[in-house]
Amino acid sequence: MEIINRRQRMGSVARKIRRDQDRTIGLVPTMGALHEGHLSLVREARRMCDVVVVSVFVNPTQFGPSEDYEHYPRDLTKDTALLTDYNVDYIFAPAAEEIYPKDFCTYVNVGGLSKPLEGATRPGHFRGVATVVAILLNTVRPDFAFFGQKDAQQAVVIKRMVRDLAFETEIVVLPTVREDSGLAISSRNLYLNAEEQESAAVIHRGLKQAKELYKKGERHAAKIEEIVRTTIESEPRARVDYVSVVDAESLERLEKLDERPLLIAVAAYVGKTRLIDNVLLNKVKKDAPASKG
Ligand code: PAJ
Repeated sequence: MEIINRRQRMGSVARKIRRDQDRTIGLVPTMGALHEGHLSLVREARRMCDVVVVSVFVNPTQFGPSEDYEHYPRDLTKDTALLTDYNVDYIFAPAAEEIYPKDFCTYVNVGGLSKPLEGATRPGHFRGVATVVAILLNTVRPDFAFFGQKDAQQAVVIKRMVRDLAFETEIVVLPTVREDSGLAISSRNLYLNAEEQESAAVIHRGLKQAKELYKKGERHAAKIEEIVRTTIESEPRARVDYVSVVDAESLERLEKLDERPLLIAVAAYVGKTRLIDNVLLNKVKKDAPASKG
């Protein structure tokens, strides 16, 4: 395994793999502080692709001014050890100036998809995400890039960017990995103390109830949102930021639900920590994409 810090080196290594050896490349973009959620993406990349690149980059442009950029957990030594065990070929871990030179001024805006849900609370967040992912995809030019359903809106935004801007990478979205309690695994769970960890499991319980309600025939979005909110807020340490039932592709909020793919997205504070989670209803069953080459 090689750790690469320079964009140019990453680009030339990837070019050589494609040209000389004609092997498929899988990219797993991360901000490090790796956990089981990230590792599930790495495992699938390893299964599907000849060469696996994991990027570890805490991307400054996707953090708001009052967010945790400075304090975001960073431990490249530990991440490297984990990725060695997973047989990763390259870690791309550039410094911020390597990705954003002083006079950087080009950003990717994925229009309306960046506005609702997380976008409403975190203006500029998806512009930062789309921009850095575009840079990573252009540097590595992977056949496949792997993302988690945990960040549902991010996956939708990236898929749309890839389609609209004709990137040649196929985006693979994999299921949310959870603790036994149902809590979605996240780097930000490190901010929760033991009691808060326990309380946070209520988010997934709320979502599961909503799913059951839908299965039993409830088709009013407001009713479903209400049950999620009430369940979550029955836990004194938890406060809902938003809960919204939306079209899983357009992210438009619906009043009356039908049988199309739907997303129930939640953001909630547990103590001071803001967590997100979601469930999909009526997911389109799609076979895992066949490996190229
Ligand atoms: P990060 O939060 O490090 O997450 C990297 C990837 O891991 C994302 O695709 C995310 O959805 C996925 N992931 C996180 N928790 C997961 C879980 N419990 N189950 C399954 N997948 C999970 O998301 C980012 O970084 C950044 O925005 C990035 C895409 C790297 C751009 O900077």
